[in-house]
Amino acid sequence: MQILHNISLKPFNTFGLEATAKHFVSVDTVAALQKVLSLPNYPEKFILGGGSNMLLTKNMNALVIHVNIKGISVVSEDENTVKIKANAGENWHDFVLWCLNNDYGGLENLSLIPGNVGTAPIQNIGAYGIELKDNFVSCEALEIATNKIKTFHKADCRFDYRNSVFKQEAKGQFIICSVTFQLTKNTHQLHTNYGAISDQLAETGIENPTIQDVSKAVIAIRQSKLPDPKEIGNSGSFFKNPVISIKAYNQLKSVFPDAPGYIISDLEVKVPAGWLIEKAGFKGKRFDTYGVHKKQALVLVNYGNAKGSDILKLAELIQLTVKRLFHIDIEAEVNIL
Ligand code: EPU
Repeated sequence: MQILHNISLKPFNTFGLEATAKHFVSVDTVAALQKVLSLPNYPEKFILGGGSNMLLTKNMNALVIHVNIKGISVVSEDENTVKIKANAGENWHDFVLWCLNNDYGGLENLSLIPGNVGTAPIQNIGAYGIELKDNFVSCEALEIATNKIKTFHKADCRFDYRNSVFKQEAKGQFIICSVTFQLTKNTHQLHTNYGAISDQLAETGIENPTIQDVSKAVIAIRQSKLPDPKEIGNSGSFFKNPVISIKAYNQLKSVFPDAPGYIISDLEVKVPAGWLIEKAGFKGKRFDTYGVHKKQALVLVNYGNAKGSDILKLAELIQLTVKRLFHIDIEAEVNIL
């Protein structure tokens, strides 16, 4: 374990933005993490996972702690279920593939989501009708104030759409070290009713899909509309889909009859932010080094050498324009630093 100084964070964020960490350390065990937390010289600390959900707008003076704790193990199993514990530094998609290689089902719809296992619960990652919470059992997290491990069971995490206790009351207080999931072993429950998945499976002529087929379908859909961060820097959905009242939705429909919406309760409708941004004229818009992805308006991209502050200005312009045109607030999903 070595504290490094003036380290570029470019390889550590999927937006590929340049920013420097004044101090940087990578830890690969919980013990090393505890040791770093007890260092007196660095009062300000920043926890870095897969770097897939952040927009770096400036250099960081804090000690950046890169959580690189690896390892996957079977905790327990019975006839049809298995509990798997994955350490925080495992790459999310590699972990999903590991599960699929072992024929463990439940995470296939979450294939190809960037980021690491340890940061996945913070925003309750979700895609194609499944959220992390659906297979989550518990996680172990180090409390920064006490340097002690605490176990969070599902109810403690208060999971919601792109939200959890780790983004609310417990924000900045814990470092997730491992996550335990419950998965299926042979009788898998497939979730293929999300439109794009059934279309994709039908297109490939698969009638009785396996969990591996569902994963392949999800990968194909994601690759067809989401940019690969290795090629074009991005952070997935930059904004959350706003939830508005039925009344506000009806008003929106009276002006824009084609406005899509998904009813989520008696009172509320979720509107795709991608539609609002596209309708506001931003889809595919390029400002030299950065812009809005041409196939999915919810994704802001760095074409190379963009500044985080430029992307932030674009995000603010989008928010203002959407507000002016539709009277709807859209909130950033990524952490702006
Ligand atoms: N739409 C447009 N224009 C666009 C994009 C979307 O009109 O440019 C409209 C269309 O009506 C489309 C609808 O939005 O039918 C929904 O689009 P899509 O299925 O692509 O999903 P999304 O709401 O844009 C959410 C997640 C994604 C996740 C997909 C699939 C959020 C913020 N985003 O996107 O998550 O992959 O559903 O489940 O909830 C991520 O978080 O990084 C991410 C990619």
